[in-house]
Amino acid sequence: MRRKLAAGNWKMNGSRASLDMLETLAAAHRVSTCDIVICPPHPLLFPAAKICGSGPVQVGAQDCHTAAKGAHTGDTAAGLIAETGARYVIVGHSERREAHGESDAQVRAKAEAAIAAGLTAIVCIGESLEQREAGEALGVIKAQLAGSVPDGSTGATLVVAYEPIWAIGTGKIPTLEQIAEVHASLRAELVGRFGDTGKGIRLLYGGSVKPENAAGIFAIADVDGALVGGASLKAEDFSPIIAALDAS
Ligand code: PGA
Repeated sequence: MRRKLAAGNWKMNGSRASLDMLETLAAAHRVSTCDIVICPPHPLLFPAAKICGSGPVQVGAQDCHTAAKGAHTGDTAAGLIAETGARYVIVGHSERREAHGESDAQVRAKAEAAIAAGLTAIVCIGESLEQREAGEALGVIKAQLAGSVPDGSTGATLVVAYEPIWAIGTGKIPTLEQIAEVHASLRAELVGRFGDTGKGIRLLYGGSVKPENAAGIFAIADVDGALVGGASLKAEDFSPIIAALDAS
C-alpha cells in the first residue's frame, strides 16, 4: 500500500513568522493517515524541522546540488539538507527547469544526490501548454520520467509529481480524465522499469490544487496525493486539502 502524501511547496514565500502554521497543521492532523510535508525556503529548514520534531508534519527542501560538497557558491548539498532534519527534497520543478535550465540528466543527478544523503526525492515532470495542445503530453512526460528518475528507485527513495506547467499558479487544472490518463501511464512506465517496486512509488498531482478541487483529484486511481504551491501557504487552505486526502 502506498501511503498518501500531501506536500506543500512554499517556493520563495514565507518567513520565520509563517512557520507558526506548522504547529496549527500538526494540531489539526495528529491522526492523519497520510504523510504531510512542507517545503520552505532553505534558511527556514532548520527552524521548521525543529518545530515539527517527530510530529505528523515533516519538512522538505525545494532543490539540492548534485555534488556532496565543493566550490558551488549559493548552492546547498543534500547532506546538509538532511542534517537540518528535512526528509524530502523537490528536484526538477518546472520553475527550476525553466529559470535555471535544468535538464533531465541534471535532475536525475540531483535526485541521486538526495537519495545518497538519505532523503526522499520528489521528482517533478510535466508538459507545457504547447506540448499538450500538440498532443505530445504523454510522450514528453514519459521521456522526462525516463531521464529524471534514478535507477534503483523505490517507494522509500522516490516520489514522482506530475505538474502540467500550464496548471501551475494559474487556477487551471486538466480534466480529471487527463490526470487519470497521465497517472495510469506513469504507473505503467514505473512498473515496466522497476517491476513490482514501481507499484510502491507514489505519484502526486500538482498544479492549482485547492480545497475545492482536491477531493475530485484524489478520487482518481494512481493519484497518491498532491504537490501544492499557493494553497500550502496558509493552514486554512492546506488543512482541508489534507483532510480530503485522508478521506480519499
Ligand atoms: P500551485 O503550484 O499549487 O500554486 O499551482 C504547484 C507547484 O508549483 O508545485
